[in-house]
Formats: sequence, structure tokens, C-alpha cells
Amino acid sequence: MKDRYGRKIEYLRLSITPRCNLRCIYCAPEGCTDSSGALSDDDIENIGRASAKAGIRYIKITGGEPLMRRSCTGIIRRLKAIDGIEEVTLTTNGTLLPEYAEELASAGTDCVNVSLDTADAEQYAAMTGFDMLDRVESGIEALCGAGIPVRLNCVLLGGINDGAFRELLRFPETNNIDLRFIELMPIGHGKEFSFISGGSIYQEISRIHPLSPSRYRSRGPAVYFESTELIGRIGFISAVSRDFCKSCNRIRITSDGILKPCLSLGIGIDIKPYLHDETKLCEAVRDAAYQKPPMHCFCGSNAETAAMNTIGG
Ligand code: 5AD
Ligand code: SF4
Repeated sequence: MKDRYGRKIEYLRLSITPRCNLRCIYCAPEGCTDSSGALSDDDIENIGRASAKAGIRYIKITGGEPLMRRSCTGIIRRLKAIDGIEEVTLTTNGTLLPEYAEELASAGTDCVNVSLDTADAEQYAAMTGFDMLDRVESGIEALCGAGIPVRLNCVLLGGINDGAFRELLRFPETNNIDLRFIELMPIGHGKEFSFISGGSIYQEISRIHPLSPSRYRSRGPAVYFESTELIGRIGFISAVSRDFCKSCNRIRITSDGILKPCLSLGIGIDIKPYLHDETKLCEAVRDAAYQKPPMHCFCGSNAETAAMNTIGG
């Protein structure tokens, strides 16, 4: 499916719950336990089927924390069974992975992104509100044990965890785990902190390990580097400093059923009335792709004001 700027749209990010068991300072510092308005498992399967008809090939399950929803692995299993859907992946904060890694593997999860902003236990507790770094680390081990490819996603905040990349390098140094740096976007509580550019982290890391461009491309806009000294790769998702919208290939569905053409815009199509009408759902997905703006815009009257945990990143 092409949008009107010629971009190929085949990736859907689907938030299955706004609930989260962490309270990250830049995302949901007040926490979120309310999941009213959430779509049912059947609704989600219908969305998957209609999206596949419209041309979606890859689905990323997001939250909140998607594993807070008990049926998360069941949803993945159902989406994986849909004709035309080639990959179903998950983004998680990792705290529930020790319990779920095996189930995720048997459901056919193709890859798991673990959000991890620091490898220092005290800093982790300060940034997320909970002393759970141990659980995330065991969760990462459990994923590797279950044979699921793992990527770490790290957001660095100026003056808070700027130096955290040094310790996080331990993961690609010792395992086949990609470490990716996502620039903080000025959405929700993200506006209260300063972002660190991918370029400056690249400079710092290349002083520790010589980096060269990698030919590897994931499904998203990340740019990868490799080093003879590293097993995993280093990736940069420079959402703010570089114009990465040219290669944007995605649409999003929020946990309460709003189909969003662009992360940065507060506009969207409410698909709740069409959940049992495959033709209308499929049309809505095509419309959302068609309505994608040429690039993001975090200010102005249409800018997104919702919290990140409802959108799913
Ligand atoms: N900018 C960039 N990434 C963000 N996330 C949450 N808020 C922001 C923001 N303002 C990330 C989390 C997690 C993913 C789901 O979204 O760090 O990796
Ligand atoms: Fe939860 Fe992820 Fe937001 Fe942290 S960044 S509060 S883990 S949804």
C-alpha cells in the first residue's frame, strides 16, 4: 500500500493496553491502571485481518506495557495466523519477560524490543519508579534462552541518564543483541526533558568501539552500525534531529481504537464503529495511510497532546 508521497506503508503499530506497571518520568510518571475503552481480542484479530487485506505485512504490539494484558501472547498467536501477516513483534519494558518469554516464543513472536534506558539499578528505579532492573535483565536472558531475537531501545535524557550508554554497551559486547538509541520526542511528558542527538551518542560510542555503517536494515527507520569489537549492532532512531519521515512506513492504532496516520498529530480515525465490518475497516486503514502527512510536526493546532502510553510509541 503506497501513501500519496510514494511511501510504502506496510507496518502497523498496535497498542493493546494503555496500562503500565512502570512510571517512566518522560512517559507516564503518574502511572496508568485504567484500560477502559480497550479493544477486545476478537476486535484486534479483525483489525489484523482487515489490515492484511489493505497491505499491512508487519505488526508491532505495543502498550503501555503489552504484557500487562493477560491475553498478549494469545493475541500474537492469532495475528501470526493471519494470511499476509509476515511478522508480529513486541515492544515491552521487559519486567514481565521472565514469566512470558517461553510463551512468546511458542506464539511465534518474531522479535522483541525491550525498552531499557539504563543498566544502573539506582538510576533505573529513579527513572521508572520501581526497583525492577533485575527482572528486566533476567527477562532479556530468558528471551535469548527461548531463541527470540532481542533489541534494546534506549532513550537518553539530557542531565538524567546521558552516560547510561556506556554500561548498556555491555549487551552488544557480550551477546547478539542490538542496542538502539531513540531520540526523545516532544510528546506528552517528553516535552519536559531535553533530548540527546543520535549524532552525539555516535561520537561518544565511536571513541570506545570503532563503528562502521552496517548494511542491515530492520523494518523501521533505524540506521545501524557495527564494530569488529561488538557482537550486536548499534542503531540510531533519530526521530528529531534527522528528517526520518521520508522513510516512514507505518500507521498506528491506539489502545482505544483510534487509527493514527502520524505519531506527531492528534488527529485520527475512530475505528470502533467498523470493528465488525471488514470492508470498512480495510478502507479506514487505507485512508489512514493516504492521510499521512509528508513529515512530522510536534507543534501547531493539530499536534498530539495525548500521553505516549496510550499511543504506544
Ligand atoms: N520520545 C521517544 N520515545 C518515547 N517512548 C516513550 N515516550 C517517548 C518519547 N517522548 C518510548 C519508550 C519505549 C517506547 C514504547 O516508547 O522509551 O521504548
Ligand atoms: Fe510504561 Fe514504557 Fe511508558 Fe515506561 S516508557 S511508563 S515502561 S509505557
